[in-house]
Amino acid sequence: MDWIRDSNYGNVAVGKLPSHYFETLNRIAEEYLLQIPDKTATTHHSYYGDLVGDIKKDFRKIQFADIWQGIRYGAFETPESFAAILHNILEMNEVYYSNPKPNFAGGSLYGAAANLIPHRDCILFHFPGIRVYRAIICATDGNSDTTTEFITHKVERQLNKGDYMLFDFDRTLHQVKKTGQTPTPRILLKLHFLALDMTYARSPYIWIYVKFATNCYIVYYRVARYTEQIGTDPKTFAGFFFGILWEYPFYARVRYSVAAFYCAVLSLRIRQSLSPFESTSVSVIAHTREAVVYSVVDMMAIYLCIVAAVYCMFLSGAIHLRHTSLFRHCISIVQKRT
Ligand SMILES: [Fe+2]
Repeated sequence: MDWIRDSNYGNVAVGKLPSHYFETLNRIAEEYLLQIPDKTATTHHSYYGDLVGDIKKDFRKIQFADIWQGIRYGAFETPESFAAILHNILEMNEVYYSNPKPNFAGGSLYGAAANLIPHRDCILFHFPGIRVYRAIICATDGNSDTTTEFITHKVERQLNKGDYMLFDFDRTLHQVKKTGQTPTPRILLKLHFLALDMTYARSPYIWIYVKFATNCYIVYYRVARYTEQIGTDPKTFAGFFFGILWEYPFYARVRYSVAAFYCAVLSLRIRQSLSPFESTSVSVIAHTREAVVYSVVDMMAIYLCIVAAVYCMFLSGAIHLRHTSLFRHCISIVQKRT
C-alpha cells in the first residue's frame, strides 16, 4: 500500500485489490444490482449489517482482507508511526450504488451534493491519536468517464473493478467528476477503519476511548446517510427539507447571505424585546436570550416556508428535479440585480 501523506488533508492511498478477489466482487455486483428497485436513481445503499445470504459472506471477505492491515503503517503523519489498534467499524460499512447524472454539476443535486461537490466526509470530530479511514472499492467495470479526485493531493482515479481509494474520513477533500453524457452506474463497497496511534495504546481505559469515538462516528454517519439518502432525488416534503439543507453548505454566497439575514432578524428581535425601562444586566441577558430563541424560530419558520414553496412547485410541475439548483438560481437573480 503506497501512501501519500499530508498533515493537513490526511493520508491517502490508491491501488488495486489482488485479482483473486475479483470473482467475489463480481458476485456482489451481480446480486446487488438485482436488489436495486430503481436503477435510474442517483444513489442507493445498504449497510453491511442489513445484507443477508451470500452477498454478506462475500462482503465479509473484502472487509476482512489482509490488505487493510496496511492502514496500520499509513494512518498517521510520520512513516515511523504505527496504529496499534485497527478497528473495523462494521456499522458504517455499506454497498453503494452510485449513478451520477450526466452534467450533474449544472443541475440541482439536493442530498447528492454531499458526495459530488468538493467536500470532507466528516467535519465534526478530532479525537487525539485517532484517525478514521474510508476505503472505496469498485465492484463493477465499464467506467471511463466518472472520476473520484483527492483534490489537494492531486490524485484521481476512474474506479473500475478491484480499484480502491483510501482516505482520511475527516480530512481529505474529495469530489466526483463526470465528463460523459450517458449514465455510468457503479457499485462500490465502502469500508471504515478506526486507527489508534501506538503512543496512546498503553493508556488506561483506552478501549473506552476507542469505543466512545467509534460510536460518535457511527451516530454521525447514520444520521448523515439517512438525511442525505432521503434528500437525494427528493419527491416528498421531508426529502426537500433535507435535500435543500444538504445543498446549502456548498454555496458560499448563500451561506453569507443567510448569516447576514440572521443577524438582521436577531437585531430586530433584540430591539423588540429590550425595554427602555429595564436596564439591569440581568434583564438585558434574559431579553437577549429570549431574542436569540425567537430569531432561531423565525429562521426555522422561514426555512419551512421555502421548503413548502419548492415542494408545491415540484408537485405542480413548475420545477423538475433536474432544473437548476435553487441556490444557483437565487445567486443568478442577485447577480442580475447588482
Ligand atoms: Fe465523500
